[in-house]
Amino acid sequence: MRVTIVEARRWGGEASWAGAGMLVPGSEYEEASDALRFALQSLTLYPDFVRELREASGLSIDFAQCGSIELAGTEEELAAIGERAKRQAELQIRAERLSNADLRRIVPGIDSGLAGGYLYPGEGQVDPRTLMAALRVACERSGVEILENEPVVALEWDRAALYASVGSGKILRAGCGVLAAGTWSSQLGKFLPATFPVKGHLIGYPLRPGSLPHVLRYHHTYLVQRQSGYTVAGTNEERAAYDRVVNDETCLEIAARAKRLWSELPEKAADGWIGFRPGVNAEGPYLGRWKDSPLWLAYGHYRNGILLAPATAERLSTQIQASL
Ligand code: GLY
Repeated sequence: MRVTIVEARRWGGEASWAGAGMLVPGSEYEEASDALRFALQSLTLYPDFVRELREASGLSIDFAQCGSIELAGTEEELAAIGERAKRQAELQIRAERLSNADLRRIVPGIDSGLAGGYLYPGEGQVDPRTLMAALRVACERSGVEILENEPVVALEWDRAALYASVGSGKILRAGCGVLAAGTWSSQLGKFLPATFPVKGHLIGYPLRPGSLPHVLRYHHTYLVQRQSGYTVAGTNEERAAYDRVVNDETCLEIAARAKRLWSELPEKAADGWIGFRPGVNAEGPYLGRWKDSPLWLAYGHYRNGILLAPATAERLSTQIQASL
């Protein structure tokens, strides 16, 4: 198929650029639900997805199946994670209980007041910026046309085709199209299921490579280390429309939370940035054909766009090809 990607700004420049890249479905989903099944399917696809993109692009991708630890502050929290792990075991999610002593052995410098945690050995992280760079080259080498700084301003269709009016005044015509504009998606029609921005701050530290062996998470505080040692900490959630301000106080507050968790961190981070998660009222994401139209939806991934990318691509491409 001939494919054109129409990007409002720059390639992968929004949530895909900002995201921490945690691949941690065990702590993102409470129940053994369809949403969790889909997330696990995506996690399972990740090694092949990354291998395929590395081969197609010749670029390296910072991807590690390093395991993640969800931390518990109290015995009650530890018991609650254990109960959830039992429910999730139905879906073959592996989770190993860690005592306070285990934690201190595995992660020197971790908060010694924590009750313990659960290690999810099948989970990991990917640096979304390296993933997106490789994806771009892989797309270009496959003949995909990429139009940047070209916002789609209106979508229409008839029996024969989908028509996208773009900022430069052109009308692009296609047999079908996929709306995957993150939190901006539902601006393209009142009829579309709503998505809204949930702003999040992230901070980063240059640290010694290998100094943090697993993704760490305690409620909304998390730490993810890249292969280079660069370590990302998050986060917060704000319903702040499209306010792009990086708030110093919020960055300091995240840094304080992160340092309480892991004392090896410096007092202050070297970098701070924001991104807009595509929030949804109902359980997202919206995936599939919009009624009988030639328009397909792939948005509303909220906190898990990077995790859900390969399964989203597989589902949409399979459905579109089956519809032809
Ligand atoms: N996936 C982590 C976050 O949205 O902050």
